[in-house]
Amino acid sequence: MNEISASAPGKFVILGEHAVVYGKPAAALAINRRFNLTVRRDSEFRINNEAADITANPHLRYISGKNDMLPVSVHMDSKIPTGSGLGSSAALSVAFSAAMRALNGRSTDEGEIAKEAFEAEYFSQGRGSPMDTSASAHGYGVALNAPENDGGRLWDITKNEYAWRVSMIDVPPMTFVIGCTGIKAATGPLVERVRKYKDSNRFASDIVDEIGQITLDGMTALRKNDVTVLGDLMTKDHKLLSILGVSSKELNKLVGASLPYAYGAKLTGAGGGGCMVALTDQPEKVCEAISSRGGSPFIVKTGVEGVRVSVKT
Ligand code: PMV
Repeated sequence: MNEISASAPGKFVILGEHAVVYGKPAAALAINRRFNLTVRRDSEFRINNEAADITANPHLRYISGKNDMLPVSVHMDSKIPTGSGLGSSAALSVAFSAAMRALNGRSTDEGEIAKEAFEAEYFSQGRGSPMDTSASAHGYGVALNAPENDGGRLWDITKNEYAWRVSMIDVPPMTFVIGCTGIKAATGPLVERVRKYKDSNRFASDIVDEIGQITLDGMTALRKNDVTVLGDLMTKDHKLLSILGVSSKELNKLVGASLPYAYGAKLTGAGGGGCMVALTDQPEKVCEAISSRGGSPFIVKTGVEGVRVSVKT
């Protein structure tokens, strides 16, 4: 009987979070931390050898429903921390979609997988952009809402009244350090806080525009592998996000501690807690600085491939 293996990377947001909610550009980079799984037909649903109610996991339930809902045994092994804005649930959705599509003889085109995985995320969370699932499916880097003439168009995704243009960014292998605060903060209330501030304050809406501009400049720096410019833009973005009220004293502490050894650093994802990211060629020094301020650091590489799927017979 066929066993399918699939694997998909996690990601971080390098520039543009929050402003992307208002149609501004954003960019996410895939990292060398992956969600690996295998699926094979079974007489009942099992997860890691234990009988499981697949409907209790909305991502698995949605994707099974889009395939044939016949029972499968799933083995999962993830190196992506959960609940930290590093795209763990997106990588699960991408890998499971790829495996189930292969098992059912459906197309394993990365764009089709990205769309199905985004729908699973939306089904589970009731909101969100296709940034995480697209980055996980394609790998390397993806941009949302980049100017049309930048090229590299991958796919368009629409949901209700929203539409996103997803394009690729060729990302060279670069070294970053992720530093996690250990504080979990829900994305929804943070997005809401920015929305209220922006709607009631001209100054805040200018900040959102400025984040959009910085992100466009950052995409150019990324393509040129200009780490000095990119790092400066990351740090500027962190300041702007702080003004919008989505940083925290713990995030500021970790960003500040890494800057002496980094080209730049910023919070990544929704903020409030979660993680920050530093671009550096002294990763061990940045890790030490983050640890000494109470954070949990790990080194990641970019320029990694997206979803992989293979069939064992
Ligand atoms: O924490 P994450 O990776 O889910 O990122 C949230 C990014 C936001 O821009 C704040 C929200 C969004 O849906 O784009």
